[in-house]
Amino acid sequence: MLKLDLAHIHPFISETDLSEAKEEVNNSIKTLHSKTGAGNDFLGWLDLPGSYDEGTLNEILNLAKNLKDKVDFIVVIGIGGSYLGTRAVSESSIGSFDYLVEKNEYPQIIYAGQNIGEDYLFELLDFLENRSYGLVVVSKSGTTTEPALAFRLLKEQLVNSVGPDEARERIIAITDSSKGALRKMVEQEGYASFVIPDDVGGRFSVLTPVGLIPLAISGIDIVSLLKGAEDMRQRTMGDVKVEENPAAMYAAARNALYSKGKFIEILVNYNPKLHYFSEWWKQLFGESEGKENKGIFPASVDLTTDLHSMGQYIQEGRRELFETVISIKNSKYKLLVPDDENNLDKLNYLAGKRVDEVNKMAELGTLMAHIDGGVPNIRIEVDTLDEYNMGQLIYFFEISCAISGYTLGINPFDQPGVEAYKKNMFALLGKPGFEAETERLNKLIK
Ligand code: PA5
Repeated sequence: MLKLDLAHIHPFISETDLSEAKEEVNNSIKTLHSKTGAGNDFLGWLDLPGSYDEGTLNEILNLAKNLKDKVDFIVVIGIGGSYLGTRAVSESSIGSFDYLVEKNEYPQIIYAGQNIGEDYLFELLDFLENRSYGLVVVSKSGTTTEPALAFRLLKEQLVNSVGPDEARERIIAITDSSKGALRKMVEQEGYASFVIPDDVGGRFSVLTPVGLIPLAISGIDIVSLLKGAEDMRQRTMGDVKVEENPAAMYAAARNALYSKGKFIEILVNYNPKLHYFSEWWKQLFGESEGKENKGIFPASVDLTTDLHSMGQYIQEGRRELFETVISIKNSKYKLLVPDDENNLDKLNYLAGKRVDEVNKMAELGTLMAHIDGGVPNIRIEVDTLDEYNMGQLIYFFEISCAISGYTLGINPFDQPGVEAYKKNMFALLGKPGFEAETERLNKLIK
């Protein structure tokens, strides 16, 4: 069961600060569950985990099985909320070196459409040539440039390589039920397709077909993922007392810290498999809260790796940060440090200990050093790194983010700022309809 430890936010904030934040959070919870707050047409994710009937799950699992037997690689094409959740769960669940093995039991996921790197795309097409692959293209709007561009390139290669009929069998589109270019392509080309519900925004969509389809194809246990999320939903319902609701307490703690000038939150892990979970978390909080010149800046480090780089700043740099550590209680495998007759590396004092014990002492030592250095600490512990606990963490952070956003006084479910770069890029590339903007930018460039 997920445990939240707030012992180390004191003395940086007082009990009174926390009590005030708890009151504010309580109001936010009421706003959220009564669906009366800003962005209330995007609350579909709240009830998602328990909403899958057997029929829908079987449809997903059957489709996964069909594609699994056909291909060795699945290219997931998407950006932001249309890919980060999949990557977070996938990379926490699969073996660290599975990607080096060509033929696994399940197809491996490769990502595209999350950048516009010409070399990346060239190398990807080159790699896929003469290999067997399928495409899962994900875009809620169906009009995002990065995935649209990657899909165009990959689809062309797939059609050239296996022919249009077989290519059609290997393409799955996940998009809006009626709007957008991708939906039109589905209708025209006859691709298998799944719907992203209208009331679920991109960064809250990992428990919709957006995440479930590619994860199921690659052999991830989506039933356990949903169970973990559902159990967390039960713990964070509107009628649970704030003190007993871990998501509410996390939201209260981070808002109390923010009001004391702690503007940066660093998500810390001690397990490299959580790297992409941090990327997902940064998008969730950054895109939800960074508005109206407000919001905690979400950052992340992978420890102990980054103790040899960012560790210096965290220990002694500007004192505007706090940490949220995700701690995994039990590692999956057991590995003991061997004894060495010569002991040239002077590590015999560790002989017989588990590697995880060394990691845990690094974690504890770092926690104590950072507190001494003036960095408040929030700790979240889960038992093991598996699909069930990933489900818990996902729902925990989603609901914390919504509560936090309302407490901050912004709409956590929109992203107006994302449009600014798109407008400029379209104008600079000469997209029809952007002529006035093109003229304005060209004058600025000269
Ligand atoms: O959270 C969001 O809404 C965004 O990050 C989107 O997921 C991202 O911009 C991709 O959008 P789309 O799925 O429409 O291609």
